[in-house]
Amino acid sequence: MAQPIASLPRLVRLLGPRDPGLPAYRWLADGLRLLITDGRVPSGQVLPSERRLTEALGVSRTTVTRAYAQLRETGFLVSRRGSGHVATLPLGRRRLGVGGALLPGEETGEDLLDLTCAACRAPAGTAEAYAAALEQLPSFLAGTGYATAGLPQLREVIAARYTERGLPTDPDQVMVVGGALAGVSLAVRALTRPGEPVLVESPSYPNAVDAARRCGVRLVPLPVEPHGWDLDQAVATIASARPVVAQLILDFHNPTGALMGDADRARLAAALRGASTTAIVDETLLEVRLDDAPTPLPFAAHLSRCVLVGSSSKSHWGGLRTGWLRVPKPLVARLMQARIADDLGAPIVEQLALTELLTRSPGLHPERREELRASRAAMVAGLPDAVPGARWVPPAGGLSLWVELPEPRAGALATAAREAGVLISPGPQFAASHGLERFVRLPYKDPADVVTEAMRRLGAAWRSRHDAPSGRPAAGPRPVVA
Ligand SMILES: Cc1ncc(COP(=O)(O)O)c(C=O)c1O
Repeated sequence: MAQPIASLPRLVRLLGPRDPGLPAYRWLADGLRLLITDGRVPSGQVLPSERRLTEALGVSRTTVTRAYAQLRETGFLVSRRGSGHVATLPLGRRRLGVGGALLPGEETGEDLLDLTCAACRAPAGTAEAYAAALEQLPSFLAGTGYATAGLPQLREVIAARYTERGLPTDPDQVMVVGGALAGVSLAVRALTRPGEPVLVESPSYPNAVDAARRCGVRLVPLPVEPHGWDLDQAVATIASARPVVAQLILDFHNPTGALMGDADRARLAAALRGASTTAIVDETLLEVRLDDAPTPLPFAAHLSRCVLVGSSSKSHWGGLRTGWLRVPKPLVARLMQARIADDLGAPIVEQLALTELLTRSPGLHPERREELRASRAAMVAGLPDAVPGARWVPPAGGLSLWVELPEPRAGALATAAREAGVLISPGPQFAASHGLERFVRLPYKDPADVVTEAMRRLGAAWRSRHDAPSGRPAAGPRPVVA
């Protein structure tokens, strides 16, 4: 198959002007490595010949030869007679699939595609935001570095975004934390006492449910169907259980991808108000909007006793490890007090980098949106062959399909899939208590060709499981990180 060729004018534009502080070959090698790492030059794309790049950049031929040699040595370029210079990612990164989760002790050396982590690599512009953050750092070094509620400039940018979304917000209501999970965990700990009832969705993002469980509260599961919430059931559950806190993911719910509209939000808010429940609403996937869909108001516009949890992990990059809470004014002191028992603030450089990103390119990067749409289409195209009879509700956003299998065999399928070279998360991992053996979560966060290959392997696993000896012990599934 012919390899896609990088456009020379685009490459020259992306590389930008030469950095006079660096030897020319270093500038070129660093620039190309950055473009390959963040996907603006995708792995598999053919770079221009040395001669053409020399002419286009106005540098010496030796500069390009040395830069290409350095990229080859570090695993970012493969040069072959006939196919030219092909951009690639170093092998170690690809083994667990693009964007694999780095859990301790996991580098198996096997060719595994990892569909257990619904998160993407960093989008274009991330390294530049870090560079801008480092430039600003010296002015902070004279201070203590403890910004316990968060850097004022970041809190202002975040507050302004809520205000734009129809929820007037004072920067004092924003608390920057180490990611959305840390935020949910802090909020549920601050707002509950052991034994109290807490409403959690099932399925849900399992780590947030664990965070509640660890507070010693009594979990009250609220089923979420593949198409979303059953409001009658939610209202009845809230009226009878009278939960102290309700943990909810209303925007491209993980794992179903469901989005709750404004009419249902208003009804749910009324029920929670009636039971004096405080909502903790996790908006981590808010920005991963892939199709035209309604843009409902933030839940705190419907219910004042609502803590909103935001994150840069899905809109930008999980490695920023930065999220935030938008707290109702009467609860600010209580959450702050609870926070300092745990940690004393998020790192300064990450907060500066996030301020840059939210100012320069808020929301999902358009290229990322296009990639995700293509990958979702590849999954939807491959699934019927892989698992005949599988069903799903197409999500308008988020990072995964929540797939209903024709038989309740999710655990067995995950085990067989591991043997076929693809890691998947079976439904029970997302259940608040038990069940969901009929479901698997399949993230489409990898490039479309990787998703297609993952569906091929899943198909092999689905077919093989019919022949598998029954009663074979299933290997425990990998923890769900994201
Ligand atoms: C709903 C939800 N909340 C929280 C998280 C974790 O976010 P963070 O990386 O900001 O801690 C995830 C990650 O997938 C998620 O899907």
